[in-house]
Amino acid sequence: MPEQPRKMLVTSALPYANGPIHIGHLVEYIQTDIWVRFQKMRGHECYYVCADDAHGTPIMLRAQQEGISPETLIARVKKEHEEDFARFAVAFDNYHTTHSDENRELSELIYERLLAGGHISRRIIKQAYDPAKNIFLPDRFIRGACPKCGAADQYGDSCEVCGATYSPTELKNPVSAISGVTPVEKESEHYFFKLADFESSLKDWTRGGHLQEEVSNKLDEWFDTGLQEWDISRDEPYFGFRIPGTKDKYFYVWLDAPIGYLASFKNLCDRSSLKFDEFFLKESSTELYHFIGKDIIYFHALFWPAMLEGSKLRTPTAIFAHGFLTIHGQKMSKSRGTFIMAKTYLDHLDPQYLRYYFAAKLGSGIDDIDLSFDDFSFRVNSDLVGKVVNIASRCAGFINKRFEGKLSVENHNPELLESFIGAGEKIAMLYKSREYARAMREIMALADKANQYIDEHKPWVIAKDPAREAELQSICSMGINLFRYLLLFLKPVLPVMAEQGEAFLGIKPLKWKDIDYPLYDHTINPFKPLMQRVDKEKIQAMIDSSKDDLLKNSADKANSDSGSLVKNAIADEITIDDFAKIDLRVAKITRAEYVEGADKLLRLTLDIGEETRNVFAGIRSAYQPEDLEGKLTVMVVNLAPRKMRFGISEGMVLAAGPGGEDLYILSPDSGAIPGMKVK
Ligand code: 2FM
Ligand code: ZN
Repeated sequence: MPEQPRKMLVTSALPYANGPIHIGHLVEYIQTDIWVRFQKMRGHECYYVCADDAHGTPIMLRAQQEGISPETLIARVKKEHEEDFARFAVAFDNYHTTHSDENRELSELIYERLLAGGHISRRIIKQAYDPAKNIFLPDRFIRGACPKCGAADQYGDSCEVCGATYSPTELKNPVSAISGVTPVEKESEHYFFKLADFESSLKDWTRGGHLQEEVSNKLDEWFDTGLQEWDISRDEPYFGFRIPGTKDKYFYVWLDAPIGYLASFKNLCDRSSLKFDEFFLKESSTELYHFIGKDIIYFHALFWPAMLEGSKLRTPTAIFAHGFLTIHGQKMSKSRGTFIMAKTYLDHLDPQYLRYYFAAKLGSGIDDIDLSFDDFSFRVNSDLVGKVVNIASRCAGFINKRFEGKLSVENHNPELLESFIGAGEKIAMLYKSREYARAMREIMALADKANQYIDEHKPWVIAKDPAREAELQSICSMGINLFRYLLLFLKPVLPVMAEQGEAFLGIKPLKWKDIDYPLYDHTINPFKPLMQRVDKEKIQAMIDSSKDDLLKNSADKANSDSGSLVKNAIADEITIDDFAKIDLRVAKITRAEYVEGADKLLRLTLDIGEETRNVFAGIRSAYQPEDLEGKLTVMVVNLAPRKMRFGISEGMVLAAGPGGEDLYILSPDSGAIPGMKVK
């Protein structure tokens, strides 16, 4: 039974307006776009909206750094984001910005309703403040030594070396990352959303079939620790919306970000005949879906439904969380060239490859998905080029050359055709439940069947026998029909190939219901190859360009002279005697190992000539152990041993770079000998 047409609004998380889209982001936009395209093909009224997340301190500071206004920055980035999305065929019905009139009005409305409902409280809190720049400092803008392991230059909320989390007041020797001065504590009044007011309804909602089971389970842990009041205000200077009734308080970016979903839709409604109220009034019978990454579940599955309920608006029908992208089993890494911007990818490779590859990996859960470039080329070449496109190219030549493009009037193998038609509903259910990897497997199994059919009937042999003309036409027509089904089933994933395939077949844009109408007695057009094989050299070129992007970005940062963040500020002057106290030696890394329970550390065994040292180095995100073994480096050998959770660290190896994956250990030229003094 065909489904009744439904009305749905679908969103993806709003990307921040201070950086480019990378392939990690694209997992979500491609996942959502496939789902939306599928719903539209099924005949549902489905709208896909998104926007740039344009507010907050990092965006304000980034604009200062570039010497431009935040408005200029966010306008430029929005244009770049929209171009990237369009080239990946991510087809929003509207792409807006959170820095918009619609969002201001809706944020104020929601806030006023929460206030009127008694869900907002106020109290004075103390926070780190930069007295040189006169700004309160978000945790990420405070740097200092880790209170647990002593590692220098760590963020105000967590240590990249030992993984400890703490509050910025615990950091040793803290400095502002904006000015380099020591922060002071300063009081100010903040506004809070009383999340606990919604505890009972949230408990029902989070168990009411709106979330994936693993997400509901995760939320139970948060209920167990108690729902805290949420700080929704920030002090001036801040790039955002001023809180009504205040002179210098702004909505925290995360307050108006999800409201940006509504604002983008409102903007679409104002430009069309769509009715905003039909989608957002409490009694609405329309559906609302949010696709998000698993890192922002808390905001979407607790704060957001509570905000909507508290302001008497409808709550989401479902929230679909997904995992992160890893590359070759590791986090995307700038130094390895796997932190790939959308634009860099597009300079080298066809966006359809990535759409298909992600589809072939995505399920409905929150597990991370891994991209391996060998697997990527293999799947695209074998499945799309070798199986799907090949069917059309094997049959089209005969139909065009021998029958003037005309398909036969009957069906050569009704049973086979029926098996394709019958598979349609199962594939549809897999798309619907976001089990794309399973859907791709079903489709490729059909492609195998189609190829087997052609192999069995050997049109190239029949073509040599003038008495078998009708049979040749019938077999090749069957092949073209099977290809058309594959094209239809793949259309949500490969809309560009589908469009080219539709032009070749001479048919209107395929809808799901076209499954019931095979092509008989129909004329097709000349065939042109619909997809090229993946060229591995282009993958390598993309990786090399991504490394170049990293160098370019570092140079841009170094060249930026306006209000730059001081992560690289030169430290206080020391005397030659101070310097002489540091005993630096050439060391050979004889062994490098992962440390169980430490995400950031590698255990290094270092040969320094007369002895061997054990050092825990926070370089795991930049290096794999096998890259390091045998390498020469430089270490401080007279640093007091430090007791860490995993053992004693007997020195420190030298590395350059801001941290994370962007870190490079120092190595002397070959010829240096372990134990040599570094002067
Ligand atoms: O995590 C992020 O990248 C946020 N910009 C997502 C916001 S989604 C929504 F709430 F607006
Ligand atoms: Zn630490």
